[in-house]
Amino acid sequence: MRILLVASAFNSLTQRIQADLSDRGHTPALALATEDEVVRAAVRRYAPELIVAPMLRTALPEDVWSAHTCLIVHPGPPGDRGPSSLDWAIHTGAERWAVTVLQADAEMDAGDIWATVPFEVPAVGKSDLYRGEAGDAAVAAVALAVERFASGRHKPQPQHGPEVEAVCRPYFRQEARRIDWSADSSETVLRKLRGADSQPGVLDELLGAQWYLHGGHPEDELRGIPGAIVATRAGAICRATRDGAVWIPELRRRRTPGGPVTFKRPAVDALAGCLPPVPEVPAPLELPGHRRTWTDIGYREDGEVGRLRFSFPGGAMSTAHCRRLLAAYRFALSRPTSVLVLGGARDFFSNGIHLNVIEAAADPAEESWANINAMDDLVEAVLRTTDRLVVAALGGNAAAGGVMLALAADEVWCRAGAVLNPHYRLMGLYGSEYWTYTLPRRVGGDRAERLMREAAPVSAAAAVALGLADRLVTASPEGFPDEAARMAEQMAGYRALARRIADKGAVRVRDEAAKPLAAYRHEELNRMHRTFFRADDPYHALRRAFVRKEAGGADRAGPVAT
Ligand code: COA
Repeated sequence: MRILLVASAFNSLTQRIQADLSDRGHTPALALATEDEVVRAAVRRYAPELIVAPMLRTALPEDVWSAHTCLIVHPGPPGDRGPSSLDWAIHTGAERWAVTVLQADAEMDAGDIWATVPFEVPAVGKSDLYRGEAGDAAVAAVALAVERFASGRHKPQPQHGPEVEAVCRPYFRQEARRIDWSADSSETVLRKLRGADSQPGVLDELLGAQWYLHGGHPEDELRGIPGAIVATRAGAICRATRDGAVWIPELRRRRTPGGPVTFKRPAVDALAGCLPPVPEVPAPLELPGHRRTWTDIGYREDGEVGRLRFSFPGGAMSTAHCRRLLAAYRFALSRPTSVLVLGGARDFFSNGIHLNVIEAAADPAEESWANINAMDDLVEAVLRTTDRLVVAALGGNAAAGGVMLALAADEVWCRAGAVLNPHYRLMGLYGSEYWTYTLPRRVGGDRAERLMREAAPVSAAAAVALGLADRLVTASPEGFPDEAARMAEQMAGYRALARRIADKGAVRVRDEAAKPLAAYRHEELNRMHRTFFRADDPYHALRRAFVRKEAGGADRAGPVAT
């Protein structure tokens, strides 16, 4: 079927739905709903049989929805109305929620129901939920709705019957997010932080200034005066509550009227110069099972399997993140395991170098250079591992250098809902992370060149078909870590494993003789150096716009209907 996707941004959900509809044999095209006229023109040109809106911040023009069947993806259960559904789900402590596909109508979210798919709500941030459980439900609900529409026999269910109770929930304002540090329990504080993560954050007063707090994780041991910063860890701050404490990884300064646009940064960096003298309290790499605290890198070992888990906000890896992860990787290599699983956490695997940290640096060119070198050091360590099998386990999406980090492993396992963006074009970069070695090795030279040039998202299923990934893991976002661990244990039990490890060492020796890794790195970094240190290179403007979420940033339009 010819399906036109109309979306406010080519975001992860839109990418997933587009990929899923293609995988099901439909021909989806995309129109960005920047203006009504753009949508009308796309409809005229593409002449779709059906219009689907996976993520829309504005209403569709009436002349479009009255002439075509338009299905709107709403992240709420039947009857739920309003623009902040997931915020309300988290705020009200809902254990189950749903995604409903509605027909566009004169009243927002009040159209007939084509499909609804429920999902569990774990204690995670809103964006993580959106990309995880809600994303899975949305893909399933759209598939069902499209199938029903295609059958020509399905009658959508009106919302004005006795079975559907309409609940209008208003836009979730900062007043409702406000934290009362002296009165709110840790659980309440965490719920408020999760409901605002990753955007818009919770507006709060901190050290005499207005900040948005981004991310929130429990802490079981540290205590202090409610609201006070009591410790730091890996760039995050720990603030006491009335009955415990919470970790907050990132902060964004409130923009002053007429002042420059502000953006998120690791909390400790953002507060540099005004942070009180509090201890840095590192978490042990191998955290005891009973601890309830935050750490972005952790290691676990079960028999022959080592698991190096990492999770950075937005999948962005700064110089410091890369160096800490490399140190942890080296520790993992010192352990007597035969299979090492890299990743395995839910949500983003990695989105490459940390553009916000780079943008905030006194010298962004120098910081870009330090970051890409730190990333390359990490990737090189993975590529040079010849005494065990390394598996990259992607519970969620990966992009740019983050995909290449995964490709350095011997096997890439992707959760079925993951979307890969194996290219650097959106940031105007040639790229590094040894991609010129690993990408052609996996998909061949021509396809590698096409992936880079077309800069299109690739679904996990398509990644396996292309050879970018090896195994598709059908698991929920919560179930993925255990499923990946189970698969790794199975792999460690294969009789042929020792032989495979020996072969891998031989291949590395052969490849090194043909062209040393140092040569790949040198060639890639030469191009990157020119980009970083040329002040008028488009990378700087693209990065600036991306970090500040300004139009004119990365070309995210994807394949627009023509
Ligand atoms: N550095 C800093 N922040 C990053 C980032 C990076 N490399 N990649 C993603 N993020 C952040 C985004 O700013 C966003 O933050 P927010 O939640 O506070 O809004 C969050 O991660 C999710 O990204 P978003 O762009 O909203 O998700 P998406 O699913 O629509 O798109 C990508 C995902 C990866 C395609 C897109 O974020 C992107 O192009 N990232 C840059 C990749 C890159 O060029 N890396 C550097 C070269 S190695």
